[in-house]
Amino acid sequence: MRTKVVIIGAGPAGLLLGHLLENQGIETVILERRSRDYVLGRIRAGVLEQGTVELLEQAGVSGRMQAEGLIRDGVELSFDGDAHRFDFRELVGRTVMVYGQTEVTRDLMQARDAAGATTIYEAENVALHDFDGDKPRVSYLKDGTEHEISCDFIAGCDGYHGVSRASVPETALRTFERVYPFGWLGILVDRPPVADELIYAHHSRGFALCSMRSPTRSRYYVQVSTDEKVEDWSDDRFWDELRRRLNDETAGRLLTGPSIEKSIAPLRSFVAEPLRFGHLFLAGDAAHIVPPTGAKGLNLAASDVRYLAEALIEYYEERSSAGIDAYSARALARVWKAERFSWWMTSILHTFPDTDAFGRRMQRTEFDYLVSSEAASRSLAENYTGLPF
Ligand code: APR
Ligand code: PHB
Repeated sequence: MRTKVVIIGAGPAGLLLGHLLENQGIETVILERRSRDYVLGRIRAGVLEQGTVELLEQAGVSGRMQAEGLIRDGVELSFDGDAHRFDFRELVGRTVMVYGQTEVTRDLMQARDAAGATTIYEAENVALHDFDGDKPRVSYLKDGTEHEISCDFIAGCDGYHGVSRASVPETALRTFERVYPFGWLGILVDRPPVADELIYAHHSRGFALCSMRSPTRSRYYVQVSTDEKVEDWSDDRFWDELRRRLNDETAGRLLTGPSIEKSIAPLRSFVAEPLRFGHLFLAGDAAHIVPPTGAKGLNLAASDVRYLAEALIEYYEERSSAGIDAYSARALARVWKAERFSWWMTSILHTFPDTDAFGRRMQRTEFDYLVSSEAASRSLAENYTGLPF
């Protein structure tokens, strides 16, 4: 088999890249290790920056998002019960959209089916060959038979644990990492959200987040230590802990119910440099991880993919390598700024086991400064709604 671009991974990065390329008549094949149902069963974050929304609109995959997504003008941050609303529309004239990543994935899968493009699910033993030259190949096993695809380029969109980054010689790669000493225990529940807008709460017992998927479905998180087991968290224990971390007014309004999903996710910051190795590119979680506190994971995958799609389109339409040569530096410049924002939000909102009294006062003072300074508020709003790309 032969195609122009082999994309490894059918998460949002791989599917969106495939869609942007197919829209321009550039043929792609996506290889995905899991089944379609497995990919659609993963619960992920749910806040889209305005730039991501616009990209999905331009790409022609925004119909359901526009009908069902919830535009939100601001968020609330609360510190030991003192709450402050940041009005993004007023501060920077921009908004965000609440629309689950799983739904973005579903919409992209449907668009790919409608375009008749090839996705091979349950592709095992995916292996990358000769990407340092101009005749790369990708091999895989499907239903016990070995296959091979020759292509011009390989796009590694296979997430943090994927094979693409792992195929690059260690000496060619520089990595930067911070692992946080806590995780997030998340719950999904069919009850209306406690508030229309998201609430990020710092509390001496740990961080809590109130989010949503729709007017009737809510997503809540509490910070837990890394050794916690999800089996030890009954729904009642979760709700009690969440209430204790919210201020009385919010806690009093909380509508609880049986969880429909409950899981613990670790928190990590990670960046690999560069994002290009000959004819292989990395994009999305394959290249970088952010802690979820800034709601940036999917949005960074979208900006990488936009840069990469532009570069590949330029290559095929104008026979120019300028875009692909610039891809890594262009994408990384934005990645690092989102890494900074995600790290900063994580640092002020969580409790750290080794923070002393001075460190706690610094966290409180960050909050007081954010609330009292319009410049600081605008900086938060500018980053949360998304830096330009
Ligand atoms: N071969 C083929 N596919 C693979 C392999 C492999 N060896 N390894 C992983 N994959 C697939 C995974 O099964 C997954 O479907 O690659 C896909 C990667 O998708 P995501 O993990 O969703 O990553 P990405 O598309 O970059 O999306 C980034 O996802 O994790 C969140 O916070 C993150 O919101 C961000 C978004
Ligand atoms: C979510 O809704 O799952 C969510 C929202 C905002 C975040 C992280 C997760 O910062």
